[in-house]
Amino acid sequence: THLHPYLAALPKAEHHMHLEGALSPSLLFALAARNSITIPTSDAAFGSPAALLDRYTRFSSLDDFLHYYFIGMKCLVKEQDFEQLAWEYFLKAKSDGVVHAEVFFDPQAHTGRGITYETVVNGFTTACQRAEKELELSTKLILCLLRHLPVEDSTKTYAQARMDWETGRLAGLGLDSSEKGFPPGAWKEIYGTAKTNGIRRTAHAGEEGPVEYIREALSELDVERIDHGIRLAEDTELMREVAEKKILVTLCPLSNVRLQCVKDVKELPIRTFLDNGVMFSINSDDPAYFGGYILDNYCAVQEAFNLTAREWAAITKAAVEGSWCNYSRKQYLL
Ligand code: HPA
Ligand code: ZN
Repeated sequence: THLHPYLAALPKAEHHMHLEGALSPSLLFALAARNSITIPTSDAAFGSPAALLDRYTRFSSLDDFLHYYFIGMKCLVKEQDFEQLAWEYFLKAKSDGVVHAEVFFDPQAHTGRGITYETVVNGFTTACQRAEKELELSTKLILCLLRHLPVEDSTKTYAQARMDWETGRLAGLGLDSSEKGFPPGAWKEIYGTAKTNGIRRTAHAGEEGPVEYIREALSELDVERIDHGIRLAEDTELMREVAEKKILVTLCPLSNVRLQCVKDVKELPIRTFLDNGVMFSINSDDPAYFGGYILDNYCAVQEAFNLTAREWAAITKAAVEGSWCNYSRKQYLL
């Protein structure tokens, strides 16, 4: 589109990106070789990086994607692997015009297979510090809890991470993985503790699951952001509340299409959100799996909605406002 150079140059804040979701098939195969990890041969999709990439164009649901996502990350073993994964993402983000990135990671997906919590966080932190220094990119790490595992597992993970919130190595708490059948209210106690401890809170809600989960994340978990939240427009009253409270909704258009939450980007409630003053940002979710990084997502939205430069400026401004970046950095970016 004619706005492409403008979209490319816009200073972007990204808030909904899973570092493990930046694992490309080529890096997956390279790390598997380096760490002597056996890739499942029973699934033809793992025959080659190209076959895997092709399989990623045919996800039938969130859970179908998660199956590949959790297999893929088994190649991440050493601190250096986590660092490399995050660093390659930051390089790409920088080239897409990202100036501030808040990135998710799933410690339980690693500790559950014998990798220590410290290995994961040390590796990611090193990459974050390097991005701050060498790319002038401000970063925040957000620990996500897995909702398909028992809540007690989350409680243990929360305890493991306690020091990292106190020292600022972690910026916030999130909730992800399978949504349907896992209402967010079960994490109420952990989120209550997080609030008491002054920790920022967000949760995936209303991606595949119903709009009630968005309501529940707000009322039970007292989240400050909603990740995905595409079902929000189904409840006008709740949508007004989200707009009024300036809750940022972190949209991931290409993800929603790939996971068949919508048939086309045109079906996303972007116009409705703009008309109702809902603060939202455009993000990449799991860029190596969903066919694009943040700029590709911006372009897909532009193709579908033909927004004006003024509207885009407002969207990126809302993204910085809704970010958890440090006060002085935020003033500088606004
Ligand atoms: N939804 C839920 N869990 C996830 C996602 C997602 O889009 N990406 C990585 N884990
Ligand atoms: Zn996500």
